[in-house]
Amino acid sequence: MLQELYQPNKEFAKNARIKNMCEYNELVDAANEDYEGFWGAFANEKIDWFEPFTNVLNETNAPFVKWFEGGKLNVAHQCIDRHIESRKNKAAIIFEGDRGDKQIITYLELYYQVNKFANLLKEDFGVKKGDRVVIYMPMIPEAAYAMLACARIGAIHSIVFGGFSAEALRDRINDAEAKVVITADGAYRKTKPYMLKPVVDEALAEGNSPVEKVLVVERNNEDLEWVAGRDYSYNELIKDKSPECPAEPMDSEDPLFLLYTSGSTGKPKGVQHNQAGYILWAQMTMEWVFDVKENDTYWCTADIGWITGHTYIVYGPLAMGATTVMFEGVITYPDAGRPWKMVEEYKINQFYTAPTAIRVLHKTGENEPAKYDISSLKVLGTVGEPIDPPAWKWYYEEVGQSKCAIVDTYWQTETGGHIVSPLPGATPIKPACATLPLPGIIGEILDPETGRKVGAGESGYMCVTRPWPSMIRGVWGDPERFIKSYFGDVKKDGKAVYFTGDGAVYGENGYITITGRTDDVINVSGHRMGTAEVEAAIKKHWNVAEVAVVGKPHEIKGEGIFAYIVLKSDEGVADEVEEVKAINNIIKKEIGNIAVCDDMVFAPGLPKTRSGKIMRRILRSIAKGEPITQDISTLEDPSVVEKIENMVKGV
Ligand code: PRX
Repeated sequence: MLQELYQPNKEFAKNARIKNMCEYNELVDAANEDYEGFWGAFANEKIDWFEPFTNVLNETNAPFVKWFEGGKLNVAHQCIDRHIESRKNKAAIIFEGDRGDKQIITYLELYYQVNKFANLLKEDFGVKKGDRVVIYMPMIPEAAYAMLACARIGAIHSIVFGGFSAEALRDRINDAEAKVVITADGAYRKTKPYMLKPVVDEALAEGNSPVEKVLVVERNNEDLEWVAGRDYSYNELIKDKSPECPAEPMDSEDPLFLLYTSGSTGKPKGVQHNQAGYILWAQMTMEWVFDVKENDTYWCTADIGWITGHTYIVYGPLAMGATTVMFEGVITYPDAGRPWKMVEEYKINQFYTAPTAIRVLHKTGENEPAKYDISSLKVLGTVGEPIDPPAWKWYYEEVGQSKCAIVDTYWQTETGGHIVSPLPGATPIKPACATLPLPGIIGEILDPETGRKVGAGESGYMCVTRPWPSMIRGVWGDPERFIKSYFGDVKKDGKAVYFTGDGAVYGENGYITITGRTDDVINVSGHRMGTAEVEAAIKKHWNVAEVAVVGKPHEIKGEGIFAYIVLKSDEGVADEVEEVKAINNIIKKEIGNIAVCDDMVFAPGLPKTRSGKIMRRILRSIAKGEPITQDISTLEDPSVVEKIENMVKGV
């Protein structure tokens, strides 16, 4: 196993923040010896407190923990104001639009834009501390301004990915009881304009909406229907706003944002992150894992609608005073050389993307990196799903020119920031392996039955056994779901610990390889999707009696969505292709294009136990084309398995 290790680049390591495994181990030991001392010292060093905290960690009401009680801070101040003295003319955000339009926003310019935006929200919309603001935006600088403006005045933002449908948007607005929605008229994709505001109109159309006001950034100058008294143009209102707005002093544990994510059951849950712990870890992981230096340019290709965009496009980079690239376009458009052209042009030093993107770039543009001068690259990152060794190898050799570390960062919406990842100057890396927990994160693979830490070569559940600053603080409006979702499955020494939902295995050297979800969550192109949500959408079709959705390995997306559907009646099903289309249209309407099924099989029945439980493991094996190893004799109707198998073979 050890021969597969790639050692860190020596030249790079010399100047890295964490230079070798001794330094890594020292930090790990420091956290083990004095956990609160470790975190308290970093919180003092990294955060520009308005008032110091008086207590590091309060676990009396675990799993509802409190970090840095007594402290007051403001995240927008941490990300902008404190840099003005030394970095006012430094690029904070480099924006590249879909059509190649560019904008460089300095820290001083960002300060003015965010302050004006904050004043607009306060003065024109009456937004106050604690109010929820939904942001449904394309990848344009105003999206970042909106986030930071909320943070500045203490409003809680909840970003909904622009690819979600009106229904999905409505659910999230209602659950968060949002008072305001910030959107844009539209944006561009592959140079063609598309609309967003009509989706907001549809989401609010039903009445009884908590939303009082909608703010529209006019990006495309589209003709829109404006609802009088509800809809306002950002471009108009912003004109006369003052560029000075005091940063609201926030308690360490006041909520900063909500971000809805899929679980194994029920509707998406509003993951809540709070102020101090989140921003501390966002900043520390930026510094440690990407090792961004003062003059570096860093690019993360995610969308701000996902946690990666929150922590590693906006909050983390700005908190540390870095230059972050924000990209509206599609990385394979006009061709698969687009990212490398951008790396050359902006002299990008750290590049962070998802395995799905790497697979697409590899497949459609294997030789593209060599056409550009990408020698500025120092660190490459991957996130969101397991990366397969061939894609890793291409990324390492062709993009990283065999000199850049690949940081395979493992984390989740709930963890706020990375929890298991190599450090580019210290950790010998192994293809497709997230390696070791970061210092301060007590990440362990546990046996779910006994709570014992498993040994080398053994697999178990990926857990974090002590609370850490950027961990999820709650599921919005549902404390019981918080406990049940994350602290119900694994106990260590009799104490419930945080379980990620992922399986993992230890290598000989303690390296952690994530093996994927153990629950009914699937990971499509690095986007998390609950099979229950897709099933609920499919069930809305009039002719669907029963449905089971599973993941199936997909060459590009990592996992594809495979649906087994039992129809109520064959009558009226003139054409299966039409039926598939009709069902997919419902999915698009209920969730969005990202949840459309890759495969659909109209099955004669589903494999169920006599108590009526659907045997998903059998369905997963069939979807993968694997032999069935489970005992099917106890099923309600064993013959259904063979029938489905034959149908799938014909798919
Ligand atoms: O299954 C793990 C997978 O993505 C899930 C988290 O999804 P989400 O909350 O949407 O956040 C994605 C971006 C952080 C995890 O439970 N995952 C994330 N990173 C990795 C990964 N699987 C394998 N390797 C990774 N590096």
